[in-house]
Amino acid sequence: MTQSGTEALKGEDWAGEMGARWLANLDRFENMIAPIGAALLERAGYQAGERVLDLGCGGGATTLAIAETVGPGGAALGLDVAPMLIERARARATEAGSLARFVCADAATARLDEPPFDRLFSRFGSMFFETPAPAFANLSGMLKAGARIDLAVWANPRDNLWMMEVMGVVRQHVDIPPATPRAPGPFAFEDRGYLNDVLESGGFSDIDVATYQGLQPVGGPGATPDEATDFVLASMAVGRVLGEQGAGVRDAARSDLTGMFTRYHQVGEGVMLPCKAWLVTARAKPVG
Ligand SMILES: C[S@@+](CC[C@H](N)C(=O)[O-])C[C@H]1O[C@@H](n2cnc3c(N)ncnc32)[C@H](O)[C@@H]1O
Repeated sequence: MTQSGTEALKGEDWAGEMGARWLANLDRFENMIAPIGAALLERAGYQAGERVLDLGCGGGATTLAIAETVGPGGAALGLDVAPMLIERARARATEAGSLARFVCADAATARLDEPPFDRLFSRFGSMFFETPAPAFANLSGMLKAGARIDLAVWANPRDNLWMMEVMGVVRQHVDIPPATPRAPGPFAFEDRGYLNDVLESGGFSDIDVATYQGLQPVGGPGATPDEATDFVLASMAVGRVLGEQGAGVRDAARSDLTGMFTRYHQVGEGVMLPCKAWLVTARAKPVG
C-alpha cells in the first residue's frame, strides 16, 4: 500500500533536526565521505601559515585536519549553522589539543570578526543556501581578493546510487514528489551550468571542476545490509518519512531496503554503492 509523504522531504533544518541526525550518526557519515574529503584536501594542497575557512564544517573533522597542516602560523576556522555540531567540534578540538576554532552562524549572512581568509574549504557544506548567490557574495566578503575556494558538492543523482536506490525502494511504499531542481539540498549544484552562475554572481571566477567517482560505504566501512538499513532509517530524511507510516509499510520498506543493500554488499568492505561528486575550485574576484 502506498502512503503519502508529501511533507517529507521539504527543506533541511540543519540547526535542528538534520543537525541532530548528523550528530547522532557522526562517525558513520564522516567515514562514508572520508575518501572524498581526502581527495578535496589533496587538491587544495594547504600550506603552513595559510588562513582557511571551513564552510559548513559539521563535526569539524576536516577543520581539524586543516589546522594540523596550516600549523600555528596559520588558522583553521570551522563555520556551521548547527549549534550541536559546533559544540561537538569544539570538544574534539580540545581533546585533540588542536588549534582549530569554530563559530556557529549562518554562513549566508554571518559577519565574522576575523581578518580575511586566504582560502575557503567545504566538504558538502555549501549546497543548503535558500538564495545561494547572495550567500556566496557574503562568503566572498570574508576572503582576500584572489583567495581560492575548494568545494565538494554532489553531482547528478542518477550517478549517486547510494541515494537513488534508497529513494527507489522508499517510493515503492510512500508517495514522495520528485525533487525540485536546484532546491537547497544535497543535489542543489548537480547542474554545473547553474553552479557556475551561482559562483560568478557571488563574486568568483576561474572556476574549474574535477569529477570524483567511487564507491561509497553506506553506513560506514564494513556495515552489513542490516546496519546500512538502520543507518538510512536513523539518519536520512526518508527515515523520518517511513517513521510516520504504519507498521506494515515500515516493515515492508525495511525488508526491501535490506534486500537492495544485500545486492551491493561486499564482504569485508561494506555496502558499496556508486557515488559521484564535483570537486570545484574558484577564486574570489577583487572587490569593485
Ligand atoms: C552534509 S553536512 C557536511 C558536514 C561537514 N562538512 C563534513 O563533511 O563532515 C552539511 C553541513 O553544512 C551545514 N550548513 C548547512 N547550511 C548552512 C549555513 N547556511 N551556514 C553554515 N553551515 C551550514 C550543516 O549544519 C552541516 O553541518
